[in-house]
Amino acid sequence: MAHGRKNGLFIRKSVDHVRAETVNHGLKRSLGPIDLMFLGIGSTIGAGIYVMTGTAAATFAGPAVLISFVIAGFACAFAALCYAELASTMPVSGSSYTYAYATLGEVAAWTMGWLIVLEYGVAGATVAVGFSGYFASLLADFGVHIPAGLMTPLVHVANGGMGDVSISGSLNLIAAGVILLVTVPLLFGVSQSAAVNSLIVTIKAGILLLFVAIGVNAIDPINWVPFIPPNEGGFSYGWPGIFRAASVIFFAYIGFETVSTAGAEARNPQRDLPIGILGALTVCTLLYISVAAVLTGVVPFRQLGVPDPLGVAVEAMNKPWFALVIKAGAVIGLTSVLLVLSYGQSRVFFAMSRDGLVPSLFARLHPRYCTPWGGTIALALGMAVAAAFLPITLLGDLVSLGTALSFAIICFTVIWLRNTHPEIERPFRVPLGGFRVRGIWIGVTPLAGILLCSAMAGPLLFDVIHKVWIGNPVPALLLGGHVLAGAVIYIGYGHRHSRLGKGLGPAAPAEQAA
Ligand code: ALA
Repeated sequence: MAHGRKNGLFIRKSVDHVRAETVNHGLKRSLGPIDLMFLGIGSTIGAGIYVMTGTAAATFAGPAVLISFVIAGFACAFAALCYAELASTMPVSGSSYTYAYATLGEVAAWTMGWLIVLEYGVAGATVAVGFSGYFASLLADFGVHIPAGLMTPLVHVANGGMGDVSISGSLNLIAAGVILLVTVPLLFGVSQSAAVNSLIVTIKAGILLLFVAIGVNAIDPINWVPFIPPNEGGFSYGWPGIFRAASVIFFAYIGFETVSTAGAEARNPQRDLPIGILGALTVCTLLYISVAAVLTGVVPFRQLGVPDPLGVAVEAMNKPWFALVIKAGAVIGLTSVLLVLSYGQSRVFFAMSRDGLVPSLFARLHPRYCTPWGGTIALALGMAVAAAFLPITLLGDLVSLGTALSFAIICFTVIWLRNTHPEIERPFRVPLGGFRVRGIWIGVTPLAGILLCSAMAGPLLFDVIHKVWIGNPVPALLLGGHVLAGAVIYIGYGHRHSRLGKGLGPAAPAEQAA
Protein backbone atom coordinates (compact mmCIF):
# COMPACT_ATOMS: atom_id res chain seq x y z
CA MET A 1 0.00 0.00 0.00
CA ALA A 2 1.35 3.43 -0.89
CA HIS A 3 2.28 5.44 2.20
CA GLY A 4 1.00 8.97 2.58
CA ARG A 5 -1.00 8.83 -0.65
CA LYS A 6 -4.48 10.33 -0.40
CA ASN A 7 -5.56 10.59 -4.03
CA GLY A 8 -6.23 8.05 -6.79
CA LEU A 9 -4.20 7.12 -9.86
CA PHE A 10 -6.15 9.41 -12.16
CA ILE A 11 -5.65 12.56 -10.08
CA ARG A 12 -5.17 15.60 -12.34
CA LYS A 13 -3.41 18.91 -11.82
CA SER A 14 -5.70 21.85 -12.31
CA VAL A 15 -4.69 24.25 -15.08
CA ASP A 16 -4.32 26.93 -12.38
CA HIS A 17 -1.94 24.64 -10.50
CA VAL A 18 0.12 24.21 -13.69
CA ARG A 19 0.16 27.97 -14.27
CA ALA A 20 1.16 28.59 -10.63
CA GLU A 21 4.22 26.46 -11.26
CA THR A 22 5.24 28.88 -13.99
CA VAL A 23 6.09 31.53 -11.42
CA ASN A 24 7.48 28.99 -9.00
CA HIS A 25 10.12 27.12 -10.94
CA GLY A 26 13.43 28.76 -9.99
CA LEU A 27 14.85 28.54 -13.56
CA LYS A 28 16.05 31.74 -15.32
CA ARG A 29 13.78 33.32 -18.01
CA SER A 30 16.40 34.00 -20.64
CA LEU A 31 15.06 32.77 -24.03
CA GLY A 32 13.46 34.98 -26.74
CA PRO A 33 11.58 33.86 -29.93
CA ILE A 34 14.69 33.44 -32.10
CA ASP A 35 16.47 31.50 -29.33
CA LEU A 36 13.43 29.22 -29.13
CA MET A 37 13.25 28.70 -32.90
CA PHE A 38 16.97 27.94 -32.98
CA LEU A 39 16.47 25.57 -30.06
CA GLY A 40 13.88 23.76 -32.21
CA ILE A 41 16.03 23.70 -35.35
CA GLY A 42 19.04 22.67 -33.30
CA SER A 43 17.26 19.59 -32.02
CA THR A 44 15.56 18.78 -35.32
CA ILE A 45 18.22 18.72 -38.05
CA GLY A 46 20.44 15.76 -37.29
CA ALA A 47 20.88 12.04 -37.88
CA GLY A 48 17.49 11.88 -39.60
CA ILE A 49 18.56 13.93 -42.61
CA TYR A 50 22.27 13.05 -42.48
CA VAL A 51 21.92 9.26 -42.09
CA MET A 52 18.37 7.89 -42.16
CA THR A 53 17.25 9.54 -45.40
CA GLY A 54 19.78 7.31 -47.16
CA THR A 55 18.63 4.13 -45.40
CA ALA A 56 14.96 4.97 -45.98
CA ALA A 57 15.52 5.56 -49.72
CA ALA A 58 17.76 2.51 -50.22
CA THR A 59 15.73 0.03 -48.18
CA PHE A 60 12.12 1.20 -48.37
CA ALA A 61 11.04 3.99 -50.71
CA GLY A 62 13.58 4.81 -53.43
CA PRO A 63 13.21 8.38 -54.78
CA ALA A 64 9.66 8.37 -53.40
CA VAL A 65 11.28 9.10 -50.03
CA LEU A 66 10.27 12.66 -50.96
CA ILE A 67 6.62 11.60 -50.57
CA SER A 68 7.55 10.00 -47.23
CA PHE A 69 8.99 13.35 -46.11
CA VAL A 70 5.75 15.09 -47.05
CA ILE A 71 3.61 12.52 -45.17
CA ALA A 72 5.80 12.63 -42.04
CA GLY A 73 5.96 16.43 -42.33
CA PHE A 74 2.16 16.67 -42.30
CA ALA A 75 1.93 14.37 -39.27
CA CYS A 76 4.39 16.61 -37.45
CA ALA A 77 2.73 19.84 -38.62
CA PHE A 78 -0.62 18.81 -37.15
CA ALA A 79 1.10 17.70 -33.94
CA ALA A 80 3.11 20.95 -33.92
CA LEU A 81 -0.06 23.03 -34.05
CA CYS A 82 -1.44 21.04 -31.11
CA TYR A 83 1.82 21.56 -29.23
CA ALA A 84 1.59 25.27 -29.96
CA GLU A 85 -1.94 25.50 -28.51
CA LEU A 86 -0.97 23.61 -25.37
CA ALA A 87 2.32 25.46 -24.96
CA SER A 88 0.57 28.83 -25.18
CA THR A 89 -2.08 27.69 -22.68
CA MET A 90 0.35 26.11 -20.19
CA PRO A 91 3.80 27.64 -20.73
CA VAL A 92 5.72 25.48 -18.25
CA SER A 93 8.74 23.23 -18.10
CA GLY A 94 8.05 19.60 -18.97
CA SER A 95 5.89 20.01 -22.10
CA SER A 96 3.75 17.04 -23.09
CA TYR A 97 4.25 15.45 -19.72
CA THR A 98 2.78 18.49 -17.96
CA TYR A 99 -0.05 18.81 -20.47
CA ALA A 100 -1.02 15.19 -19.86
CA TYR A 101 -0.91 15.73 -16.08
CA ALA A 102 -3.32 18.66 -16.33
CA THR A 103 -5.74 16.84 -18.59
CA LEU A 104 -5.62 13.05 -18.62
CA GLY A 105 -4.23 12.45 -15.11
CA GLU A 106 -1.18 11.02 -13.35
CA VAL A 107 -0.89 7.63 -15.07
CA ALA A 108 -1.16 9.23 -18.52
CA ALA A 109 1.41 11.84 -17.45
CA TRP A 110 3.80 9.16 -16.32
CA THR A 111 3.28 7.26 -19.60
CA MET A 112 3.99 10.44 -21.50
CA GLY A 113 7.14 11.14 -19.49
CA TRP A 114 8.32 7.61 -20.13
CA LEU A 115 7.64 7.91 -23.89
CA ILE A 116 9.71 11.09 -23.83
CA VAL A 117 12.65 9.03 -22.60
CA LEU A 118 12.44 7.38 -26.05
CA GLU A 119 11.80 10.68 -27.80
CA TYR A 120 14.75 12.58 -26.31
CA GLY A 121 17.02 10.21 -24.41
CA VAL A 122 17.11 7.34 -26.89
CA ALA A 123 17.06 9.87 -29.77
CA GLY A 124 20.19 11.42 -28.26
CA ALA A 125 21.84 8.01 -28.25
CA THR A 126 20.78 7.51 -31.90
CA VAL A 127 22.23 10.84 -32.93
CA ALA A 128 25.49 10.02 -31.15
CA VAL A 129 25.76 6.80 -33.17
CA GLY A 130 25.17 8.82 -36.37
CA PHE A 131 27.92 11.19 -35.19
CA SER A 132 30.39 8.32 -34.82
CA GLY A 133 29.88 7.33 -38.51
CA TYR A 134 30.54 10.81 -39.92
CA PHE A 135 33.33 11.49 -37.41
CA ALA A 136 35.17 8.33 -38.49
CA SER A 137 34.61 9.15 -42.17
CA LEU A 138 35.95 12.71 -41.67
CA LEU A 139 39.06 11.52 -39.81
CA ALA A 140 39.66 8.86 -42.49
CA ASP A 141 39.84 11.68 -45.08
CA PHE A 142 42.77 13.03 -43.04
CA GLY A 143 44.40 9.59 -42.91
CA VAL A 144 43.38 8.84 -39.30
CA HIS A 145 41.53 5.53 -39.03
CA ILE A 146 39.47 4.82 -35.91
CA PRO A 147 39.63 1.08 -35.08
CA ALA A 148 36.26 -0.60 -35.80
CA GLY A 149 36.33 -1.98 -32.24
CA LEU A 150 35.88 1.56 -30.86
CA MET A 151 32.74 2.28 -32.83
CA THR A 152 30.89 -0.99 -33.25
CA PRO A 153 27.88 -1.45 -30.93
CA LEU A 154 27.64 -4.60 -28.83
CA VAL A 155 24.43 -5.66 -30.60
CA HIS A 156 24.94 -5.88 -34.34
CA VAL A 157 22.07 -6.35 -36.79
CA ALA A 158 23.07 -7.19 -40.37
CA ASN A 159 21.66 -5.55 -43.50
CA GLY A 160 20.43 -2.23 -42.14
CA GLY A 161 18.49 -3.74 -39.25
CA MET A 162 16.71 -6.29 -41.44
CA GLY A 163 19.08 -9.24 -40.98
CA ASP A 164 20.56 -11.58 -38.35
CA VAL A 165 21.43 -10.34 -34.87
CA SER A 166 24.91 -10.99 -33.47
CA ILE A 167 26.96 -9.84 -30.49
CA SER A 168 30.09 -8.00 -31.62
CA GLY A 169 32.09 -8.09 -28.38
CA SER A 170 32.91 -4.36 -28.75
CA LEU A 171 31.26 -1.07 -27.79
CA ASN A 172 30.63 2.18 -29.67
CA LEU A 173 32.82 4.25 -27.36
CA ILE A 174 32.99 7.19 -29.79
CA ALA A 175 29.20 7.61 -29.55
CA ALA A 176 29.23 7.25 -25.76
CA GLY A 177 32.12 9.73 -25.47
CA VAL A 178 30.42 12.50 -27.45
CA ILE A 179 27.33 12.27 -25.23
CA LEU A 180 29.45 12.84 -22.13
CA LEU A 181 31.30 15.70 -23.81
CA VAL A 182 28.13 17.52 -24.81
CA THR A 183 26.85 17.35 -21.24
CA VAL A 184 29.54 19.78 -20.04
CA PRO A 185 28.06 23.05 -21.48
CA LEU A 186 24.61 22.00 -20.27
CA LEU A 187 25.87 21.94 -16.72
CA PHE A 188 26.80 25.64 -16.95
CA GLY A 189 23.39 26.97 -17.88
CA VAL A 190 20.94 27.51 -20.69
CA SER A 191 22.02 30.96 -21.83
CA GLN A 192 25.53 29.79 -22.68
CA SER A 193 24.15 26.62 -24.24
CA ALA A 194 21.59 28.50 -26.36
CA ALA A 195 24.26 30.90 -27.63
CA VAL A 196 26.53 28.03 -28.68
CA ASN A 197 23.52 26.27 -30.19
CA SER A 198 22.52 29.31 -32.29
CA LEU A 199 25.97 29.49 -33.84
CA ILE A 200 26.02 25.78 -34.62
CA VAL A 201 22.53 25.86 -36.11
CA THR A 202 23.55 28.66 -38.46
CA ILE A 203 26.52 26.61 -39.62
CA LYS A 204 24.64 23.37 -40.18
CA ALA A 205 21.61 24.87 -41.93
CA GLY A 206 24.03 26.82 -44.14
CA ILE A 207 25.87 23.65 -45.07
CA LEU A 208 22.68 21.84 -46.03
CA LEU A 209 21.69 24.82 -48.18
CA LEU A 210 25.09 24.68 -49.86
CA PHE A 211 24.59 20.96 -50.47
CA VAL A 212 21.36 21.76 -52.29
CA ALA A 213 22.80 24.71 -54.22
CA ILE A 214 25.85 22.78 -55.46
CA GLY A 215 24.08 19.44 -55.86
CA VAL A 216 21.24 20.73 -57.98
CA ASN A 217 23.60 20.97 -60.96
CA ALA A 218 24.70 17.35 -60.55
CA ILE A 219 21.19 15.86 -60.61
CA ASP A 220 20.64 13.22 -63.28
CA PRO A 221 16.83 12.93 -63.65
CA ILE A 222 17.23 9.29 -64.71
CA ASN A 223 17.89 8.54 -61.02
CA TRP A 224 14.31 9.57 -60.25
CA VAL A 225 12.87 6.98 -62.68
CA PRO A 226 10.81 5.11 -61.60
CA PHE A 227 9.92 7.60 -58.92
CA ILE A 228 7.98 4.95 -56.99
CA PRO A 229 9.84 1.64 -57.52
CA PRO A 230 7.44 -1.34 -57.71
CA ASN A 231 6.87 -3.22 -54.45
CA GLU A 232 9.25 -6.16 -53.98
CA GLY A 233 7.37 -7.73 -51.05
CA GLY A 234 6.78 -6.54 -47.49
CA PHE A 235 7.90 -2.95 -46.94
CA SER A 236 10.37 -2.98 -49.86
CA TYR A 237 9.27 -0.12 -52.15
CA GLY A 238 5.83 0.76 -53.49
CA TRP A 239 3.30 2.41 -51.17
CA PRO A 240 4.00 0.08 -48.19
CA GLY A 241 7.65 1.16 -48.51
CA ILE A 242 6.72 4.84 -48.70
CA PHE A 243 4.85 4.58 -45.37
CA ARG A 244 7.61 2.52 -43.75
CA ALA A 245 10.15 5.10 -44.93
CA ALA A 246 7.92 7.84 -43.51
CA SER A 247 8.07 6.12 -40.12
CA VAL A 248 11.88 6.00 -40.37
CA ILE A 249 12.36 9.61 -41.41
CA PHE A 250 9.72 10.74 -38.90
CA PHE A 251 12.81 10.66 -36.69
CA ALA A 252 14.22 13.54 -38.73
CA TYR A 253 11.40 15.82 -37.59
CA ILE A 254 11.58 15.00 -33.91
CA GLY A 255 12.87 17.91 -31.89
CA PHE A 256 10.77 20.93 -32.89
CA GLU A 257 8.66 20.26 -29.80
CA THR A 258 11.73 20.62 -27.57
CA VAL A 259 10.81 24.30 -27.72
CA SER A 260 7.79 23.61 -25.52
CA THR A 261 9.99 22.03 -22.82
CA ALA A 262 11.62 25.44 -22.45
CA GLY A 263 8.33 27.16 -21.54
CA ALA A 264 9.58 27.99 -18.06
CA GLU A 265 12.73 29.59 -19.44
CA ALA A 266 11.05 31.68 -22.18
CA ARG A 267 10.76 35.45 -21.69
CA ASN A 268 7.28 35.72 -23.27
CA PRO A 269 6.03 32.15 -23.56
CA GLN A 270 2.49 32.81 -24.81
CA ARG A 271 3.67 34.66 -27.89
CA ASP A 272 7.06 33.07 -28.47
CA LEU A 273 6.45 29.34 -28.01
CA PRO A 274 4.14 29.02 -31.07
CA ILE A 275 6.59 31.12 -33.12
CA GLY A 276 9.47 28.90 -32.04
CA ILE A 277 7.68 25.60 -32.69
CA LEU A 278 6.07 26.38 -36.05
CA GLY A 279 9.06 28.36 -37.32
CA ALA A 280 11.46 25.50 -36.58
CA LEU A 281 9.22 22.94 -38.27
CA THR A 282 8.75 25.03 -41.42
CA VAL A 283 12.46 25.70 -41.88
CA CYS A 284 13.32 22.03 -41.38
CA THR A 285 10.64 20.70 -43.73
CA LEU A 286 11.79 22.92 -46.59
CA LEU A 287 15.41 21.96 -46.05
CA TYR A 288 14.69 18.22 -45.83
CA ILE A 289 12.65 17.99 -49.00
CA SER A 290 15.32 19.91 -50.93
CA VAL A 291 18.16 17.76 -49.56
CA ALA A 292 16.29 14.50 -50.27
CA ALA A 293 15.55 15.60 -53.84
CA VAL A 294 19.23 16.33 -54.48
CA LEU A 295 20.43 13.16 -52.73
CA THR A 296 18.22 10.81 -54.75
CA GLY A 297 18.80 12.84 -57.93
CA VAL A 298 22.60 12.60 -57.70
CA VAL A 299 23.07 8.97 -56.53
CA PRO A 300 21.07 5.86 -57.61
CA PHE A 301 18.95 5.20 -54.52
CA ARG A 302 20.17 1.62 -53.92
CA GLN A 303 23.65 3.01 -53.17
CA LEU A 304 22.45 5.25 -50.34
CA GLY A 305 22.26 2.67 -47.52
CA VAL A 306 25.57 3.77 -45.95
CA PRO A 307 26.50 5.55 -42.66
CA ASP A 308 27.33 8.78 -44.57
CA PRO A 309 24.93 9.10 -47.56
CA LEU A 310 25.50 12.85 -47.97
CA GLY A 311 29.23 12.16 -48.16
CA VAL A 312 28.59 9.61 -50.94
CA ALA A 313 26.50 12.15 -52.86
CA VAL A 314 29.17 14.81 -52.61
CA GLU A 315 31.84 12.37 -53.82
CA ALA A 316 29.58 11.70 -56.83
CA MET A 317 29.61 15.47 -57.46
CA ASN A 318 33.40 15.26 -57.90
CA LYS A 319 34.18 17.94 -55.35
CA PRO A 320 36.51 16.42 -52.71
CA TRP A 321 36.82 19.70 -50.75
CA PHE A 322 33.07 19.83 -50.41
CA ALA A 323 33.02 16.27 -48.98
CA LEU A 324 35.17 17.57 -46.12
CA VAL A 325 32.81 20.52 -45.56
CA ILE A 326 29.74 18.26 -45.53
CA LYS A 327 31.27 15.76 -43.12
CA ALA A 328 32.49 18.53 -40.81
CA GLY A 329 28.99 20.07 -41.02
CA ALA A 330 27.45 16.72 -40.11
CA VAL A 331 29.76 16.36 -37.10
CA ILE A 332 28.87 19.87 -35.88
CA GLY A 333 25.18 19.44 -36.71
CA LEU A 334 24.81 16.14 -34.92
CA THR A 335 26.58 17.57 -31.87
CA SER A 336 24.07 20.41 -31.70
CA VAL A 337 21.09 18.01 -31.86
CA LEU A 338 22.61 16.03 -29.08
CA LEU A 339 22.96 19.19 -27.03
CA VAL A 340 19.31 20.13 -27.30
CA LEU A 341 17.93 16.61 -26.90
CA SER A 342 19.92 16.24 -23.69
CA TYR A 343 18.62 19.63 -22.57
CA GLY A 344 14.99 18.64 -23.29
CA GLN A 345 15.32 15.31 -21.56
CA SER A 346 16.77 16.82 -18.40
CA ARG A 347 13.97 19.44 -18.23
CA VAL A 348 11.23 16.83 -18.56
CA PHE A 349 12.78 14.83 -15.73
CA PHE A 350 13.09 18.13 -13.80
CA ALA A 351 9.32 18.57 -14.07
CA MET A 352 8.62 14.94 -13.15
CA SER A 353 10.94 15.18 -10.17
CA ARG A 354 9.25 18.32 -8.82
CA ASP A 355 6.03 16.32 -8.92
CA GLY A 356 7.65 13.53 -6.92
CA LEU A 357 7.38 10.99 -9.75
CA VAL A 358 11.16 10.47 -10.13
CA PRO A 359 13.84 10.98 -7.45
CA SER A 360 14.61 14.52 -6.21
CA LEU A 361 18.11 14.34 -7.78
CA PHE A 362 16.53 15.40 -11.10
CA ALA A 363 15.09 18.66 -9.70
CA ARG A 364 18.01 19.75 -7.52
CA LEU A 365 19.38 22.98 -9.00
CA HIS A 366 23.02 23.98 -8.96
CA PRO A 367 23.30 26.95 -6.54
CA ARG A 368 25.32 29.06 -8.99
CA TYR A 369 24.32 27.94 -12.51
CA CYS A 370 20.64 27.17 -11.75
CA THR A 371 20.77 23.94 -13.80
CA PRO A 372 19.54 20.50 -12.72
CA TRP A 373 23.12 19.25 -12.82
CA GLY A 374 22.81 15.90 -11.00
CA GLY A 375 19.94 14.77 -13.22
CA THR A 376 21.72 15.95 -16.35
CA ILE A 377 24.75 13.82 -15.51
CA ALA A 378 22.65 10.76 -14.62
CA LEU A 379 20.71 10.98 -17.89
CA ALA A 380 23.88 11.41 -19.93
CA LEU A 381 25.26 8.21 -18.44
CA GLY A 382 22.09 6.32 -19.39
CA MET A 383 22.19 7.66 -22.96
CA ALA A 384 25.88 6.79 -23.27
CA VAL A 385 25.18 3.16 -22.36
CA ALA A 386 22.40 2.91 -24.99
CA ALA A 387 24.66 4.45 -27.65
CA ALA A 388 27.54 2.10 -26.83
CA PHE A 389 25.37 -1.03 -27.00
CA LEU A 390 22.82 -0.59 -29.81
CA PRO A 391 22.86 0.02 -33.60
CA ILE A 392 21.34 3.12 -35.18
CA THR A 393 18.50 1.41 -37.06
CA LEU A 394 17.18 -0.22 -33.91
CA LEU A 395 17.50 2.93 -31.82
CA GLY A 396 15.90 5.06 -34.54
CA ASP A 397 12.85 2.78 -34.86
CA LEU A 398 12.29 2.82 -31.08
CA VAL A 399 12.47 6.61 -31.07
CA SER A 400 10.03 7.00 -33.97
CA LEU A 401 7.57 4.60 -32.35
CA GLY A 402 7.65 6.29 -28.93
CA THR A 403 7.40 9.74 -30.47
CA ALA A 404 4.52 8.91 -32.82
CA LEU A 405 2.56 7.64 -29.81
CA SER A 406 3.37 10.67 -27.68
CA PHE A 407 2.41 13.07 -30.52
CA ALA A 408 -0.91 11.24 -30.92
CA ILE A 409 -1.56 11.67 -27.17
CA ILE A 410 -0.74 15.39 -27.49
CA CYS A 411 -3.32 15.79 -30.28
CA PHE A 412 -5.87 13.94 -28.15
CA THR A 413 -5.05 16.23 -25.21
CA VAL A 414 -6.10 19.29 -27.23
CA ILE A 415 -9.52 17.75 -27.88
CA TRP A 416 -9.86 16.75 -24.23
CA LEU A 417 -8.93 20.16 -22.86
CA ARG A 418 -11.20 22.04 -25.26
CA ASN A 419 -14.12 19.90 -24.07
CA THR A 420 -13.32 19.91 -20.35
CA HIS A 421 -12.01 23.51 -20.07
CA PRO A 422 -13.54 25.51 -22.92
CA GLU A 423 -13.25 28.67 -20.82
CA ILE A 424 -9.43 28.87 -20.47
CA GLU A 425 -7.65 31.63 -22.31
CA ARG A 426 -5.82 30.19 -25.34
CA PRO A 427 -3.53 32.77 -26.93
CA PHE A 428 -2.97 30.31 -29.81
CA ARG A 429 -5.69 28.00 -31.16
CA VAL A 430 -5.28 25.21 -33.72
CA PRO A 431 -6.72 26.17 -37.14
CA LEU A 432 -9.28 24.36 -39.38
CA GLY A 433 -12.11 24.33 -36.82
CA GLY A 434 -13.97 21.20 -35.80
CA PHE A 435 -17.29 19.38 -35.56
CA ARG A 436 -19.42 17.90 -32.78
CA VAL A 437 -20.30 14.26 -32.25
CA ARG A 438 -22.90 13.75 -29.48
CA GLY A 439 -21.96 17.15 -28.09
CA ILE A 440 -18.21 16.40 -28.01
CA TRP A 441 -16.04 18.86 -29.96
CA ILE A 442 -13.55 17.18 -32.31
CA GLY A 443 -10.99 19.42 -33.98
CA VAL A 444 -9.94 18.67 -37.57
CA THR A 445 -6.28 19.50 -36.81
CA PRO A 446 -5.90 17.22 -33.75
CA LEU A 447 -7.90 14.45 -35.44
CA ALA A 448 -5.67 14.60 -38.54
CA GLY A 449 -2.64 14.55 -36.20
CA ILE A 450 -3.90 11.42 -34.40
CA LEU A 451 -4.59 9.60 -37.68
CA LEU A 452 -1.26 10.50 -39.31
CA CYS A 453 0.81 9.76 -36.18
CA SER A 454 -0.93 6.37 -35.95
CA ALA A 455 0.03 5.81 -39.58
CA MET A 456 3.65 6.44 -38.51
CA ALA A 457 3.48 4.03 -35.54
CA GLY A 458 1.60 1.28 -37.40
CA PRO A 459 4.39 0.05 -39.74
CA LEU A 460 6.90 0.17 -36.85
CA LEU A 461 4.75 -1.95 -34.54
CA PHE A 462 4.06 -4.34 -37.39
CA ASP A 463 7.79 -4.62 -38.04
CA VAL A 464 8.60 -5.29 -34.35
CA ILE A 465 6.05 -8.15 -34.34
CA HIS A 466 7.20 -9.44 -37.74
CA LYS A 467 10.81 -9.55 -36.52
CA VAL A 468 9.80 -11.74 -33.56
CA TRP A 469 8.10 -14.00 -36.09
CA ILE A 470 11.29 -14.36 -38.17
CA GLY A 471 13.47 -15.02 -35.12
CA ASN A 472 14.78 -11.53 -34.18
CA PRO A 473 13.21 -10.68 -30.80
CA VAL A 474 15.68 -7.84 -29.99
CA PRO A 475 13.38 -4.86 -30.84
CA ALA A 476 10.44 -6.49 -29.01
CA LEU A 477 12.64 -7.19 -25.96
CA LEU A 478 13.90 -3.61 -25.87
CA LEU A 479 10.40 -2.21 -26.21
CA GLY A 480 8.98 -4.62 -23.63
CA GLY A 481 11.92 -3.89 -21.29
CA HIS A 482 11.26 -0.15 -21.55
CA VAL A 483 7.57 -0.57 -20.76
CA LEU A 484 8.34 -2.91 -17.84
CA ALA A 485 11.01 -0.61 -16.39
CA GLY A 486 8.56 2.31 -16.56
CA ALA A 487 5.87 0.32 -14.74
CA VAL A 488 8.32 -0.80 -12.03
CA ILE A 489 9.61 2.76 -11.41
CA TYR A 490 6.12 4.22 -11.24
CA ILE A 491 4.73 1.54 -8.92
CA GLY A 492 7.91 1.38 -6.80
CA TYR A 493 8.63 5.12 -6.56
CA GLY A 494 6.40 7.60 -8.41
CA HIS A 495 3.11 6.37 -7.05
CA ARG A 496 4.41 6.54 -3.45
CA HIS A 497 6.09 9.95 -3.71
CA SER A 498 3.66 11.86 -5.96
CA ARG A 499 3.07 15.36 -4.51
CA LEU A 500 -0.40 15.44 -5.96
CA GLY A 501 -1.12 11.95 -4.65
CA LYS A 502 -0.22 13.19 -1.15
CA GLY A 503 -2.54 16.17 -1.57
CA LEU A 504 0.31 18.75 -1.78
CA GLY A 505 0.25 21.86 -4.01
CA PRO A 506 2.85 23.12 -6.52
CA ALA A 507 6.48 22.74 -5.43
CA ALA A 508 8.23 25.92 -4.25
CA PRO A 509 11.81 26.69 -5.35
CA ALA A 510 13.15 26.00 -1.85
CA GLU A 511 11.59 22.55 -1.90
CA GLN A 512 13.10 21.85 -5.31
CA ALA A 513 16.57 22.70 -4.21
CA ALA A 514 16.33 20.75 -0.97
N1 ALA B 1 15.41 15.02 -35.57
C1 ALA B 1 16.61 14.67 -34.92
C2 ALA B 1 17.57 14.05 -35.86
O1 ALA B 1 17.28 13.89 -37.00
C3 ALA B 1 16.34 13.81 -33.73
O2 ALA B 1 18.67 13.74 -35.46
